[in-house]
Amino acid sequence: MAMNITKKILSAHLAKPSDMIPGQDIFLKVDQTLTHDINAVMTYLAFEQVGLDRIGVECSVSYLDHNLLYLDNKTPDDHIYLQSVAKRYGVHVSRPGNGICHAVHVARFGAPGKLSMGGDSHTPHGGSIGMLCIGVGGMDVATAMTGVPMRLTMPKVVKVNLVGHLKPGCNAKEVILEMLRRVGIKGGLGKVFEYVGPGASTLTVSERATITNMGAEMGATTSIFPADERVREFMRAQHREDQFVEILPDEGCDYDEEMEVDLSSLEPLCACPHQPDNVIPLKDVEKKKVQQVFIGSCTNASYSDIAKAALVLKGHHVNEDVSCTCAISSKQIYTQLMRDGYIEMLMNAGVRLLELACGPCCAIGQSPATKGVAVRTTNRNFKGRAGNPTAEIYLVSPESAAATAIVGTFASAEDILGADVAKLAEIHEPQEFPIDDSMIIKPLPLEEAKKVEIVRGPNIQPLPIPDAPENYLKAQISLKAVDNISTDDITPASAEFSSMRSNIPLMSQYCYHRYDPTFAARAKEMGKSFIIGGENYGQGSSREHAAINPMYLGVKAVIAKSIARIHRGNLINHGVIPMLFADPADYDKLEQEDELEINGLLDQMPGRMVEIRDVTKDFTFKVKLDLSDSELEVITAGGQLRHLQKQLKEMEQ
Ligand code: F3S
Repeated sequence: MAMNITKKILSAHLAKPSDMIPGQDIFLKVDQTLTHDINAVMTYLAFEQVGLDRIGVECSVSYLDHNLLYLDNKTPDDHIYLQSVAKRYGVHVSRPGNGICHAVHVARFGAPGKLSMGGDSHTPHGGSIGMLCIGVGGMDVATAMTGVPMRLTMPKVVKVNLVGHLKPGCNAKEVILEMLRRVGIKGGLGKVFEYVGPGASTLTVSERATITNMGAEMGATTSIFPADERVREFMRAQHREDQFVEILPDEGCDYDEEMEVDLSSLEPLCACPHQPDNVIPLKDVEKKKVQQVFIGSCTNASYSDIAKAALVLKGHHVNEDVSCTCAISSKQIYTQLMRDGYIEMLMNAGVRLLELACGPCCAIGQSPATKGVAVRTTNRNFKGRAGNPTAEIYLVSPESAAATAIVGTFASAEDILGADVAKLAEIHEPQEFPIDDSMIIKPLPLEEAKKVEIVRGPNIQPLPIPDAPENYLKAQISLKAVDNISTDDITPASAEFSSMRSNIPLMSQYCYHRYDPTFAARAKEMGKSFIIGGENYGQGSSREHAAINPMYLGVKAVIAKSIARIHRGNLINHGVIPMLFADPADYDKLEQEDELEINGLLDQMPGRMVEIRDVTKDFTFKVKLDLSDSELEVITAGGQLRHLQKQLKEMEQ
């Protein structure tokens, strides 16, 4: 049977036979996992609890890449724990300074046809090399690392037929911003975007990575490109051509949906505050004074991204009113840019070079000024994402960011270079990258690994484990939230907050801190409570702390109009029941501090419909439980850790 790329990879990883019908549960054997420092401590604490001696997948990598700002003991405590726990269980470690997880993973570990799960929403970056990469919560990564089959709702596969080719001065960022403009931040839910067609073969792996990486902003399960000659070139440049396998869609294969993007028609675009789908042509953005430009992140800090930005800046200087910083995505890219003279161009233009890390992308340094206009090449522009909720974040390509840094207001590469913009097309990815894996610590043999002592500084606090739900639940509403609450709203980003993520008793005090600073104390005081959400609750980053912290504060269920995919999984894993209004109009009737009562919760759950009484206002309403059988088992067991321990015990018997 003719198959698309997605189905080919999924069918090769099925742990149980399946017809792969969209919406049905499928169970998959995972090849690789990745974690990163600001989410991973919970993952490894959970893996320790499982009681295995070693990981059960081909390859797991722990990246120390997000928070390299050691403000106090907390982050070094985390890094030392992560390095020692990785040694104990056979996990590779990519040390601080080696680069951002997705860039390094694609370059040094990924391979076409593999299936990976990563504790980061931008894990689909690896779709750029024809690998199926899915972003999940940290507890899911811990589960995948054991080697047990992972559940996935079979997605619909959308064919995105690319035609034409990008004009000089236009970046792959324009492609994904155009997708976001058309599809929106919820439009990718339950879908894989498969980019094919003649335009796809004009894009390099790094350009493809910008598109698959930022596909996360559409809420997609993942995005993928064919493993074709462009991927072979990339693998060759990484000295790993032996791991290349060609994976193309079969002729005449089916897709669930189709769309087309003409690359030649794209102009520089910009995502305006405060959502990544608020996209308009760059030339139409109000010419405000820009305070800050940041060129970097996993999305847009490849060799050609930075080289093109440097070429725009060459012979110019950063405007005196603009703070312009740049964080390159990996050591090998930095080295090559240095050899080719681009680092000097950046420095001569007054760009401040930062560590090879996520940094400003997740508010670890370089927060904008009060009400500052920040122009970034990153992937998210939620309020507060840059560490200052009064700031406005605009997302553009590196070429446009460089031009903006010179002018001091929104500008494109063509505005600076005129007809010479064509020169940008002469920049190509290196035919050979400098290969140096000395910053990667390889796993020890099992017997040696068993002797490793896991180091736990004071910031490493035990993982809180939820209680199983009871049949009778009476609790107040601790928060009524609006539409599009992001995990950044729930668990704020910054160097200070990120360093608390291994310490839930401390971090939970800052839950919803920037959205409603009174929430944490109120929820704790209530003991048990409900959160009410609007549409797309929990969008954005995969950080499971957005589920763990409310759980720790006693939140038993989130009742929303819709819940984003990864966050929904995190709620389930941490024993918080995700409920959807059967009639969204009921959202308007509820108020913060209303008391809600559920009689027979456990009895009603198998029917996937639960009746709730608002005791304060004396009316009843219904909520749907959009849970598969296995998710229901996880919830009733009291979360994924208890469920996994039970599963592994049964497998032993
Ligand atoms: Fe890091 Fe930002 Fe990417 S936090 S992994 S650079 S989305």
